Amino acid sequence: MANAPRAFVAGHPVGHSRSPLIHGSWLMRYGIDGVYSAVDVAPEDFAALLIDIRAGRWTGGNVTIPHKERAFEFVDRRDAAAEAIGAVNTLWMDGEELVGGNTDAYGFAANLDQSLAGWRDGSSALVLGAGGASRAVLHALIEAGYKRIDVVNRTVPRAEQLAARFGEAVSAHGWDEADNRLAEADLIVNTTSLGMEGQPPLPLDITRARTFAMATDIVYVPLQTPFLEMAARTGLRTADGLGMLLHQAAPGFEHWFGTWPDVDDALRDLVIADLDKAAQG
Ligand code: ATR
Repeated sequence: MANAPRAFVAGHPVGHSRSPLIHGSWLMRYGIDGVYSAVDVAPEDFAALLIDIRAGRWTGGNVTIPHKERAFEFVDRRDAAAEAIGAVNTLWMDGEELVGGNTDAYGFAANLDQSLAGWRDGSSALVLGAGGASRAVLHALIEAGYKRIDVVNRTVPRAEQLAARFGEAVSAHGWDEADNRLAEADLIVNTTSLGMEGQPPLPLDITRARTFAMATDIVYVPLQTPFLEMAARTGLRTADGLGMLLHQAAPGFEHWFGTWPDVDDALRDLVIADLDKAAQG
């Protein structure tokens, strides 16, 4: 008898991850005999986890901080998104090969496809931040055909590294340029942690945006960040960041459990209820 598929999210720490809730809800919904669990894996134990996948003790899994770069290094093969972004967040076996994929760019684009119709028609974007999330966003924007992407970051050399990595569509700037670049963007994306619960808001004069511009945030706690609230008040169409988290989970679920899962309001409401519960302590 074949064993039930078993997948994980591995992080250090991992307690905050919503992935078990998302995948657990899909397993129940589709009546799949499978397991998805959170495992706290210290950096020195990460190589052993990969051995366990190769040995069939796990079907595959998600990796999160601090393992995304090591996963990138140690897989046998990477998908195109992982190559472009430089990090792996999803692992699965393809025959004898351990494959590492990155589903964050897919998640970002699928969220906008669902909640920001017309975003693919834009050609110029302003991306705030130059960390790991920014890389996924840049890959998605380039794939969607954006021709001019201005990356604004506090540490300008980090933005310059991304410009060098992603090619001539991408240019790097400091925050002093943010308001000027804003006035030229079809789409404005926050990938910094600013606006997150307990962090200061983004220093951005959103009233200078084009009237038809769209705005999105990868922060989803709170769901309506001060940046998104201000953008909506200015008349921009907006999409919150929760959809990216939900959609990025779908490709992994299909790899391990064989069914493409739906991202719908019921799933969204489930995760929002969990976030609310966490916020109440
Ligand atoms: P992630 O992988 O989630 O993108 P990260 O790599 O730590 O996380 O990147 C966080 C981003 O938020 C960076 O662009 C960071 O700017 P720096 O590269 O200058 O550190 C940005 N950020 C975090 N706190 C900030 C602050 N107080 N002011 C401006 N930018 C900030």
